[in-house]
Amino acid sequence: EKGGFEHFMLKEIHEQPKAYRDTMRGRIDESGKKVVLPELKLTKEQIKGISKVQIIACGTAYHAGLIGRHAIESLVRIPVETDVASEYRYRSPIVTPDTLVIVVSQSGETADTLAALREAHSHGAHVLAITNVVGSSIARDADDVIVTLAGPEIAVASTKAYTSQLIAFYLLSLYLAEVRGTQSPEEIARFIAAMQALPEQLESMLAKPDAIKAYAEQISKHEHLFFIGRGLDYAVVQEGSLKLKEISYIHSEAYAAGELKHGTLALIEEGIPVIALATQEAVLEKTVSNIKEVSARGADIMAITHEEHVASLLKSVHQAFAIPKTLPLLTPALSVVPMQLLSYYASLARGNDVDKPRNLAKSVTVE
Ligand code: F6R
Repeated sequence: EKGGFEHFMLKEIHEQPKAYRDTMRGRIDESGKKVVLPELKLTKEQIKGISKVQIIACGTAYHAGLIGRHAIESLVRIPVETDVASEYRYRSPIVTPDTLVIVVSQSGETADTLAALREAHSHGAHVLAITNVVGSSIARDADDVIVTLAGPEIAVASTKAYTSQLIAFYLLSLYLAEVRGTQSPEEIARFIAAMQALPEQLESMLAKPDAIKAYAEQISKHEHLFFIGRGLDYAVVQEGSLKLKEISYIHSEAYAAGELKHGTLALIEEGIPVIALATQEAVLEKTVSNIKEVSARGADIMAITHEEHVASLLKSVHQAFAIPKTLPLLTPALSVVPMQLLSYYASLARGNDVDKPRNLAKSVTVE
């Protein structure tokens, strides 16, 4: 049942290229230049009238929503708010009939997310669900559903569901961009071509886990560490940090790199591991200056970046790991993979039950 893998989590990490292909299949037209989402009831008129988007979810699905926000804001130029469901539902959110509410849930059964969906409905909003389970409560209650085709996810730590949610957000953003005319057909075609290359790029990364495995064994001996990044990298390290806590039980914090000097820098001392995700070219120099700040305080830094920056980064970091290059907005679909492998191998090195971490359940149907 684990297909030759030692754990469901590792199997599911390796199923991601297939999950990407399956989630894209039938949603890109034959010319390869347009996204088609025949399942949507949302009309073109409604899409043109959307004044804001709210993305609501819990845990890892919320982290996918953070990437979704970047995708919608940059491709469609509609303001997006993100919220964890347990906060949203109790803060009397401002929702209008021209708000598009997107709920994200692998299981489709998370109690707080379902309650948030109902709260949004009570204000007359159109609710679109991104979920992995067709007949789930959230899929049934939502006005629209984009199903992620990740297949069943057994490990408690979500991997392929998260990355398939990213693919769903990219497809939706391109569709909205086309309807609202915010991206040219050439831009959309370029984006689609880059998306179609992702599964192979992912396969090439999965074929070489050794460097990450060795680094995971190193950090498994620590009790505290930090992740830093800016922009999309910050969104990805939040997921990396959650994954690591969840299955390795190592305490970690993910920081927006520019926030370090507002307090947290005080915690950086000799030998503390810092994982710096530095893939976003537009802010790379800024991230490098934050890397130098922690390096000067003795942190033991691992940078995850693109090949062309490895040599220069190695002047300030101890180790660097290169990931394949894609469009900046698509990079999370690749850069999260070293994070997943890092937490997997750290958990393994600590002798934990990787697929069933303590205190956690796969589906959180209670509040
Ligand atoms: C972490 C994890 C959880 C879930 C969260 C929401 O690896 O799996 O944080 O993402 O409980 O679950 P769903 O997506 O089923 O609503």
